[in-house]
Amino acid sequence: MTDVYAVIGNPIGHTKSPLIHGLFAEATQQDMVYSSIEGRIGQFAADMAAFRTAGGRGMNVTAPFKLDAFACATERSPRAQMAGAVNALKFDGDRVIAENFDGVGLTRDVTHNLGCALQGKRVLLLGAGGAARGALLPFLEQQPASLVITNRTLDKAEALAKEAAAHGPVSACAYAELVGQQFDVVFNATSASLRAELPPVPAAVFAPGALAYELAYGKGLTPFLRLAQQAGVSQLADGVGMLVEQAAEAFAWWRGVRPQTGPVIERLTVPLV
Ligand code: ATR
Repeated sequence: MTDVYAVIGNPIGHTKSPLIHGLFAEATQQDMVYSSIEGRIGQFAADMAAFRTAGGRGMNVTAPFKLDAFACATERSPRAQMAGAVNALKFDGDRVIAENFDGVGLTRDVTHNLGCALQGKRVLLLGAGGAARGALLPFLEQQPASLVITNRTLDKAEALAKEAAAHGPVSACAYAELVGQQFDVVFNATSASLRAELPPVPAAVFAPGALAYELAYGKGLTPFLRLAQQAGVSQLADGVGMLVEQAAEAFAWWRGVRPQTGPVIERLTVPLV
């Protein structure tokens, strides 16, 4: 029987997940369909239940339902717990098992696809919202020399650093305190790029040979990437690899088969201009 999966969000028209999972299913010859569902605000539990009743095996969850999915789960992975948010669900009888693959997908993109090991590196993370939370544990598992979180609202960065302190060398500081500091990898995990805004990061934070990584996907050269480029950074990346890698993690979790991501990333890449 054909197994049924879906991504749920609102709005959902922009989603690339059905395309990505469709390509994975074709390449690995899995008998499955993957569609998109426009969830109703405030009705996530009911929408999820309806999908399960109709035979759904698993779901990807995107904005604004990542916290609702967390609340509805019967089991949560440590990564989902640290992120406080869920981007993938698996249904197994009465069990609703929750995962968050955003951070692990991001880390895999950086280390495997971009060939940039994080071990021993000075890493700077801009932002302390959901996207930053999801990245923390996977980053620290890579054993960076240091991981600094900076955020416009400093309290949030400090709270995150405190929560993750047991897992590695993580600290928080204000944007203004970055003056005079340099980093080998700088991630923009703020939502500033969605509004074409620039986080107040000093241009001198990029160490020679640094990687500048924008978690947003398909926005071209965002103000953050433009700042990095103007500062002389030659390694610029957006979140296309993260998007495809988190999908591959979910696919492998559901199906027990790991699809190749390279051809799908190539297909979805939008030039950084
Ligand atoms: P997401 O789930 O995408 O991470 P979020 O949880 O709303 O979204 O978090 C957005 C993050 O982007 C926050 O860290 C926010 O900073 P504040 O906590 O100070 O609000 C950050 N952010 C958004 N716009 C920004 C801007 N123009 N400059 C700097 N940081 C910005």
